[in-house]
Amino acid sequence: MKHVSLTRFLLEEQRAGRINADLRLLIEVVARACKSISIAVGKGALGGVLGDAGTGNVQGEAQKKLDVLSNEILMEANAWGGHLAGLASEEMEHAQPIPDVYPRGNYLLLFDPLDGSSNIDVNVSVGTIFSVLRCPEGVTAPGDEHFLQPGSAQVAAGYTVYGPSTVLVLTLGHGTHAFTLDREVGSFMLTRRDIAIPEETKEFAINMSNQRHWEPPMQAYVADLLAGKEGPRGKDFNMRWVASMVADVHRILTRGGIFIYPWDRKDPSKPGRLRLMYEANPMAFIVEQAGGAATTGRQRILDVQPTGLHQRVPVFLGSKREVETASRYHRDHD
Ligand code: AHG
Ligand code: MN
Ligand code: MN
Ligand code: MN
Repeated sequence: MKHVSLTRFLLEEQRAGRINADLRLLIEVVARACKSISIAVGKGALGGVLGDAGTGNVQGEAQKKLDVLSNEILMEANAWGGHLAGLASEEMEHAQPIPDVYPRGNYLLLFDPLDGSSNIDVNVSVGTIFSVLRCPEGVTAPGDEHFLQPGSAQVAAGYTVYGPSTVLVLTLGHGTHAFTLDREVGSFMLTRRDIAIPEETKEFAINMSNQRHWEPPMQAYVADLLAGKEGPRGKDFNMRWVASMVADVHRILTRGGIFIYPWDRKDPSKPGRLRLMYEANPMAFIVEQAGGAATTGRQRILDVQPTGLHQRVPVFLGSKREVETASRYHRDHD
């Protein structure tokens, strides 16, 4: 079968008037950076990329060597293209404007350079997540505040999962599409157009070790899932948890399911584990464009007005009917 390359796909989107040349170039550059990260991930111990970097990030996490390297690859690749005004990352406390030596464009790029850090050293799938926003009119050197736009303002979002194969999943606001990296040719090739997440599911993804810290509606929802056929849901549910959001979301885009990282009482200062701007928002956009839903349990994720670059939110996403059911437990409780 002859596959369409990402380059051709993007050019055809441009010809159809759905994106402009700058956004096309931006996505091409991000995809190229993901190819470099994929190569580094694939070398594993032979590339000397495993283990801790010995440094920490702004959210108090110990950085892995690959967290730092992936951030550098994305920063370097995106600095000089002329399509961006600024960048922000999980691994950098503040947004960075494009250096003065390069032309500045109209877009803002946010990324989680390496998602699923705890899986690097055990050779389990990891990924990169990214989100593209417009730079507000008249702003030439964007700061953190210019990135604080709701997810509904995203013009593009995607992730790349570095698994047995490397797959880039992308939305430009007209459906969600998957591109598999042809390692010999070095190109991403369209392998799934217009992904549709099944509306119903019998599979959930959650870190059950946090159960005792959850709030009552969350306890009630999962108790009903675990009750299986005999319980109020009337069916048996299966559970999966990779602990790389990209891999868990990729499974859901493939065969449905619900992914949950709820609020918990472990650290009340943190409303959830996942970060709104470069984890929850891009994934919510991708999932909605594939016919799924994404909420905080109480509100559509894409409607959340951000207050901080690294702010956290509870996340419920995946098969539409199941996300609605989980959200209903929360609304009924309030
Ligand atoms: P990151 O590696 O970018 O910091 O993100 C890790 C996130 C996400 O990928 C995953 O779903 C979750 O953390 C795993 O959390 P647990 O360690 O609680 O399982
Ligand atoms: Mn991290
Ligand atoms: Mn992450
Ligand atoms: Mn990360």
